[in-house]
Amino acid sequence: MKFFVDTGDIAEIKDLASTGLLDGVTTNPTLIAQSGKNFLKLIAEICEVVQGPVSAEVAATDYATMLKEGQKLAKIAKNVAVKVPLTPDGLKVCKALSDNGTQVNVTLCFSAAQALLAAKAGATFISPFVGRLDDVGQDGMLLIKEIMDIYTAYPKTIKTEVLVASIRHPIHLIAAAKMGAHVATIPPKVIRQLYAHPLTDKGLAAFVSDWQKTGQTILDAA
Ligand code: E4P
Repeated sequence: MKFFVDTGDIAEIKDLASTGLLDGVTTNPTLIAQSGKNFLKLIAEICEVVQGPVSAEVAATDYATMLKEGQKLAKIAKNVAVKVPLTPDGLKVCKALSDNGTQVNVTLCFSAAQALLAAKAGATFISPFVGRLDDVGQDGMLLIKEIMDIYTAYPKTIKTEVLVASIRHPIHLIAAAKMGAHVATIPPKVIRQLYAHPLTDKGLAAFVSDWQKTGQTILDAA
């Protein structure tokens, strides 16, 4: 499973990229606003840090302007994935850009029918928002299961990857991984939670303490 980080914070991206475990980045207009940075310059900077896909979202909602914005964003770097909303115009832009070899991430997906349309429009990624569905009392993970079932039923024709978005906690991620979802985009805080377990901390403290009792050092040993 590929791990993307869902943030516009370049310091976080650099830190997580240094782990060697980061496969890509997603941003959205909210995250860009939170960063306080110039959008195009920030995307260019992120694309230098991370080799994998970096999602940059269009701002317009009509076909003609979204297409021009998408073409401009795609020129920033080879690894830009243009993010478009799951609307009729957004999917037209998806088809036009993907036909020209541009990676496209279709965002704001909340139903299996929408995911099927995005696949037909040639999306590189479909982004179903699990946390936001949970927030309104629907089972976000059930949507991932439905989309995975549909996509895997057409292995020869559907190449779109399921990019699980709006992840709120590690349980979302584990459930998505069990279903074979291709990618998860994860907030930095949740990525850090993945490492944590109290028994790891407790066990390590005991090992450090017991090792000190030996009076030895590995690096100085002959
Ligand atoms: C994905 O591309 C979105 O940026 C993101 O996952 C949305 O998450 P949120 O529901 O926590 O805002």
